[in-house]
Amino acid sequence: MARIFTKMFTILSFYSLTLLAGTLGASRRACSRLPGDFTVPKRPGDNGYRIRISGHPSFYVPGQEYLVTLSSTPPVSFREFTFACLLVEDDATSAGHFEIVDDRLAQFSPDTINCPELLIHTSKASKTSVTFRWIAPPAGTGCVNFKAAAVQKKQIWYKDERGLTLWLCEEDVAASVPPQTNTVDEDANIECCACHTAKYTVTMRGLWSQETHPKDFPGGHGDHWSDLIGASHTKDYTIWKYGGYASLGVQRVAEWGSPTTLEREILAQTRNIKTVIRSRGLWPARGNMSAVLSVNRTHNLVSTLSMIGPSPDWCVGVSRVNLCTADCDWLQRLEIDLLPWDAGTDSGITFRSDNAPTVPIEPIHPITSSFPSNPLGAFYDPMGRPIPPMAILVFERTDNTLYDDLGEVVCEVDVGGPDATHTGGGGMPPKEGMMPPKEGMMPPKAGTMMPPKEGMMPPKAGTMMPPKEGMMPPKEGMIPSPDGEIMPPKPGMMNKGGELSNVTTPMMKKPVPEGDITMPPKVMPNEGEDIPVTMPPKHAKTGGRQPIDCMMSPWSDWTECSRSCGKGTMRRQRMVKQKARHGGQACGKQKEKKNCSTGPCPRDCMMSDWGEWTPCSVTCGNDGTQIRMRKIKKKARGSGQPCGPRREERVCGTPIEC
Ligand SMILES: *[C@@H]1O[C@H](CO)[C@@H](O)[C@H](O)[C@H]1NC(C)=O
Ligand SMILES: *[C@@H]1O[C@H](CO)[C@@H](O)[C@H](O)[C@H]1NC(C)=O
Ligand SMILES: *[C@@H]1O[C@H](CO)[C@@H](O)[C@H](O)[C@H]1NC(C)=O
Ligand SMILES: *[C@@H]1O[C@H](CO)[C@@H](O)[C@H](O)[C@H]1NC(C)=O
Repeated sequence: MARIFTKMFTILSFYSLTLLAGTLGASRRACSRLPGDFTVPKRPGDNGYRIRISGHPSFYVPGQEYLVTLSSTPPVSFREFTFACLLVEDDATSAGHFEIVDDRLAQFSPDTINCPELLIHTSKASKTSVTFRWIAPPAGTGCVNFKAAAVQKKQIWYKDERGLTLWLCEEDVAASVPPQTNTVDEDANIECCACHTAKYTVTMRGLWSQETHPKDFPGGHGDHWSDLIGASHTKDYTIWKYGGYASLGVQRVAEWGSPTTLEREILAQTRNIKTVIRSRGLWPARGNMSAVLSVNRTHNLVSTLSMIGPSPDWCVGVSRVNLCTADCDWLQRLEIDLLPWDAGTDSGITFRSDNAPTVPIEPIHPITSSFPSNPLGAFYDPMGRPIPPMAILVFERTDNTLYDDLGEVVCEVDVGGPDATHTGGGGMPPKEGMMPPKEGMMPPKAGTMMPPKEGMMPPKAGTMMPPKEGMMPPKEGMIPSPDGEIMPPKPGMMNKGGELSNVTTPMMKKPVPEGDITMPPKVMPNEGEDIPVTMPPKHAKTGGRQPIDCMMSPWSDWTECSRSCGKGTMRRQRMVKQKARHGGQACGKQKEKKNCSTGPCPRDCMMSDWGEWTPCSVTCGNDGTQIRMRKIKKKARGSGQPCGPRREERVCGTPIEC
């Protein structure tokens, strides 16, 4: 009987489950991927949260395993999260499979019907990163989209924007379209609303060594980083990017470690540049290269590069990193792992490969442990393990201006210049007394270059390198270059027999694609020297004044309740980022207050005085009892003193014997 029943039950549940799945299958889109219950909408931007795939692959290999990480930018952390990988075409169908790496941090969503393959937090403990294993979907799947949501605390949450989303395409798909850029701050969100200028130190810390990357490590004092070069710039300028072609300047850095041409290209972009970053290279490849830079609302992006030396045309660096936060401020600190990329101009596959110009040149693309898929490749790993970072780039804010006092931070914008844009920018001189002098009005001085640390830095890459004696004979036709610049010979210039390989006019060997970066004018002051950025001419003010609406920062969080019990108040505030001008919309309130209560205050029990003792219960002998009573006037509350007994009893007697 019991058995029959069980069997029937199984059949029944089978049917009902099928039915359930059938019904719900259609409404799968219901998976909200919300990391909690919220009464407020998500905040804009990503708050520094990032999705990364280790090795920064430019595409996925079907069925291959990858480590995917959701992380925050300290000091920010997160408590709750959701993480999914979705198909492009259908926002509800998951792509690939996840495996939990640490079940104290992550688990699958219990809602397996609506949200299959959705990862969520295991606990609300504060964390800065969580890693999952992701098995890429089968061939033919196409592009997939990682999406995440993170809760910083209680009602402060972020979802799907900027760094919280990442595309990855299948190999074929990736090959037919320009490589995807996995630099997080892709052009999707590079706008900036911070009104003041911020200063940073940027440090590239070299990690590359025999220990970190043993395969083919050049060693013998051959390993080095060429001069660090880069700039803080506007969104209208790109020094390099994945999928783009190397300019002549980028090519010369990538192949020869020589930054001079690129520096000229950058300087020719006067209007788009705030600070030129340049620091001397490192021989051997461990240690730090630092420079200082500033950024402002219009010039909020930073790009850098440095050649991996020796190498065919490999570099590390960042492209268009936005240092501005969504709440109109600047990041305090940003650390970026640097992985190798290929400038697409030389086809060598090992550090000391002979020169092998790539014709025609290819787009700049990341190098991964499976691409190029040649087992001889310097970074190739049959296991497809991610390449460990070769260096770390650290941006640290140095001006540390804290804007505590409300109303003090006012973004003054001058309008009316011929180049005034919708953002109100335009390089006009500041209003008297309102702002510290704008940096843009003077050539950056200290900001341009760091003095080399004594005893640490080798000679500039732009000069003859310090080759080991007899190691790199200078090559005819190579030195000096058309720039009049002495080029560092590449180790790869020498072939195995010790003879010089056949390279003619290396500086001219490859075409530069058109329309990429315009070449600088021929006449430049101080060739190869530190050149201050020449500033654009000031424009005379004209009369046309557009109204500017008041711009305010988002509200701060509410403060804690002012009293831990009973009635208190909470406050929050926001700042005026930009005053309304010329009849623009006025500013709203800067402060708000509300009543709060975290429960009643503790109170001791309050009792009346004891009443009179009752008469003794006996009229003879000593065995009597008598009682007295008292009343509770107010009950105890919270952690207050509890009430005592309401009744007391005592023995009584009489001297009279019974
Ligand atoms: C590089 O800088 C970091 C701090 O950013 C420091 O901890 C480290 O010791 C420096 N390394 C060298 C070799 O100077
Ligand atoms: C930012 O700096 C650049 C260069 O110093 C300057 O031309 C530009 O006007 C500045 N932008 C703002 C909004 O101050
Ligand atoms: C060097 O170049 C010359 C002319 O371009 C050519 O005749 C010769 O074969 C080349 N030698 C080698 C070793 O490639
Ligand atoms: C807050 O409490 C005070 C009395 O303590 C009351 O007068 C006021 O109206 C309350 N405000 C709100 C917004 O409830």
